Amino acid sequence: MTDEPNKLVTLDEYIIQAQNRFPGATGELSQLLRDIGLAAKIISREVNKAGITNLLGADGSTNIHGESVKKLDLFADDQLISALDRSLITCMVISEENDGIVRLNSEGGKYIVYLDPLDGSSNIDVNVSIGSIFSIYMRQPRPEKSLNENDALQPGTHQVAAGYVLYGSSTILAYTTGLGVSAFTLDPGIGEFILSFDDYKLPAHGTIYSINEGSYNSWPRGLKEYIKYCQQEDPENGRPYTARYIGSMVADIHRTLVKGGIFIYPASSKYPTGKLRLMYECNPLSFIIEQAGGMAIDGKQRILDIQPTSLHQRTPIFIGSTENVEKVKWFLERAEGGNDTD
Ligand code: AHG
Ligand code: MN
Ligand code: MN
Repeated sequence: MTDEPNKLVTLDEYIIQAQNRFPGATGELSQLLRDIGLAAKIISREVNKAGITNLLGADGSTNIHGESVKKLDLFADDQLISALDRSLITCMVISEENDGIVRLNSEGGKYIVYLDPLDGSSNIDVNVSIGSIFSIYMRQPRPEKSLNENDALQPGTHQVAAGYVLYGSSTILAYTTGLGVSAFTLDPGIGEFILSFDDYKLPAHGTIYSINEGSYNSWPRGLKEYIKYCQQEDPENGRPYTARYIGSMVADIHRTLVKGGIFIYPASSKYPTGKLRLMYECNPLSFIIEQAGGMAIDGKQRILDIQPTSLHQRTPIFIGSTENVEKVKWFLERAEGGNDTD
């Protein structure tokens, strides 16, 4: 697809070319991805001028998780949902900003979409990278009238596509349909996402660890031991590793995709089942990282194999370069095998 070195490939062209490789494809998934691309451009524009247009800051309400809702969260939620509603191929949306399922007009729409419309909202006010995350499932063949939230409770292995948009020093959209990861950079001059990486692979081993160390005292012993291992002197193997934690999962995962390493959000006393949401944070980003050759687990099992029981459930996550994730798993298992107390 990139055999003409000087030819710029736009997101829309790329999606159409990818679709043409499947003779039976209806084009609906392609349309859905293009809808998300359009919403991403609109959100990116607002993110870039948020300070001027007074979109910074909280809108005063709290979302269903009791967290303060920022104006940009709601703007992004509206833009993504209306983009999906326009093309009549999505039957329901589950978003971090909405309690239950959001039924769209498309009675016969065959896709179910999960959204974290604005990830890293605590970073909005301080001009640090934020993102949007999406995860797409096919609706199971059942009579339309019985469509309910159970149709959306599918394991991550069922995702037909997933991706994220990172509003950073440039805006990047990365997605996968299970055939590798492609990433596009928004050229603001022409308003198009331009292909930057095709079939992107992350390093098998990295020397960056990413975790909120403020919660150190409530971590399980195996995790404490792993982080101490990351900090030990061993120049031959690149240790001590470098610590980087942005506080926007999309940005931390994008760095992990490019440079390798590991991102961890464990269970803690504050968040006994982890903080991050399985369906619209962990599953889509695990799909991306796996497609790039990496690995994602909840400490024991593969994230994508978890059978969800509720739309907004949380999970601990250990995600990144395969060797790093295998290593932390070894530390966790070793501590569990012994006496797991401090
Ligand atoms: P959101 O803004 O969608 O609620 O997500 C914030 C998440 C995630 O992006 C980030 O990795 C994590 O919260 C940071 O949490 P801590 O501040 O607890 O480290
Ligand atoms: Mn989030
Ligand atoms: Mn969010």
